[in-house]
Amino acid sequence: MSVSLAGREVTNVAVIGAGAMGHGIAQILAMAGVGVSMTDVNREFMQKGYERIKWSLEKFVEKRTIRREEMENVLSRIRLVDGYRDTVSNVDFVIEAAPEDLTLKKKIFSELDTYAPPHAILASNTSSLSITALGSATKRVDKVVGMHFFNPPQLMPLVEVVKGASTSDETAQTAISLAKKLGKTPVLVKKDVRGFIVNSVLAYVFNEAFWALHRGEATRDQIDSAVKYKAGFPMGIFELADYIGLDIIDSASKQIASEHADRVKIPPVIEPLVKARKLGQKTKEGFYVWREGRPRIPFELADEFDVARIYVNSINGAAWLVQGDVASPQDIDTAMKFGAGWPSGPCELADRLGLDVVVQKLKELQTRFNEPMYKPCPILEEYASKGWTGRKSKRGFYSYT
Ligand SMILES: NC(=O)c1ccc[n+]([C@@H]2O[C@H](COP(=O)([O-])OP(=O)(O)OC[C@H]3O[C@@H](n4cnc5c(N)ncnc54)[C@H](O)[C@@H]3O)[C@@H](O)[C@H]2O)c1
Repeated sequence: MSVSLAGREVTNVAVIGAGAMGHGIAQILAMAGVGVSMTDVNREFMQKGYERIKWSLEKFVEKRTIRREEMENVLSRIRLVDGYRDTVSNVDFVIEAAPEDLTLKKKIFSELDTYAPPHAILASNTSSLSITALGSATKRVDKVVGMHFFNPPQLMPLVEVVKGASTSDETAQTAISLAKKLGKTPVLVKKDVRGFIVNSVLAYVFNEAFWALHRGEATRDQIDSAVKYKAGFPMGIFELADYIGLDIIDSASKQIASEHADRVKIPPVIEPLVKARKLGQKTKEGFYVWREGRPRIPFELADEFDVARIYVNSINGAAWLVQGDVASPQDIDTAMKFGAGWPSGPCELADRLGLDVVVQKLKELQTRFNEPMYKPCPILEEYASKGWTGRKSKRGFYSYT
């Protein structure tokens, strides 16, 4: 299958930054038959990225996912190139995976714009920065798009394709086609909101777990046990926060809270840990101690926290995305299943629980804690008042026949 770009095929892609994400993205491009030019600040970092690709391909060979001859073919498609000019001069598409720093990324985008062919699309793998702001550093605002891969890109199936304010539909569609060509499942984030889909919904879930802990309503272990063994999430909430990194959660939550102070209100749970450099798995301590691997979450506490509180807050977060026309219910559900490993997406869950039940539960929390952050999103109230209560009425976020 070929990807067209105003009549041209995406056959050559540049990857900027050969770190944790960049090397993985370069690898999956080459595995899909695309020619890759990869650059970094110096040869040493490029070579390090290349060695990581070789290591990962060896694993695929050991697991018989690919044959050894294929490994050589994949490697032959990857060139290490010095300087942006030579890296992008002959490509149709660029994926930037440099550090998460707006000033740095804007400088990179401005240079990429100078050297890349006029038809080339410039994509960023940013987790949290504004695609619109990156576009503004170029003269091709319609051809700048977010392509948010998950870590490790070789294994994680989801890609969030994010439109900035001026990104054209054609550019977004080309990014979606490229993600499919790489064997990924893309979802479309129609507006450039902080957190995109997965981190937005997770912010509501973290918020609720952290508040419950802070208020002394439940312990870390009770909440994680309920989430893992009752809700069937792949990790407990505190375990996931530690795994992602508490510094990252802290900054992502602050960004979302700065846009929507009425919806996400951060409890003073994370900041002290961040200040103490207890950042989670990467520093061997966060909410849990990680020195001996993954924490053991006790099964027997699963009934001691009402997991519906996590459900309804995730549903409220999803509803705000639907209300703001950021993403479709289907894409939100796909994103949470493929990006966070949830057994069901929040919109499917809402339809199963009943939207009237969800609204009632949120209102109960709002009254009990006198907190506006639990206010049900208007779209939930609207659907419930129209009788669109989900599966039981054959109409909710989805229609059922
Ligand atoms: N690590 C994750 O879990 C994850 C997940 C999704 C998205 N992201 C995003 O991906 C991007 C990269 O993150 P990472 O984890 O791979 O970081 P990283 O630090 O592992 O890699 C960044 C690489 O970029 C290189 N670099 C620095 N300045 C550069 C420049 N001017 N030009 C070219 N290369 C430069 C660095 O030398 C380094 O090799 C960030 O925007 C991050 O938010 C990260």
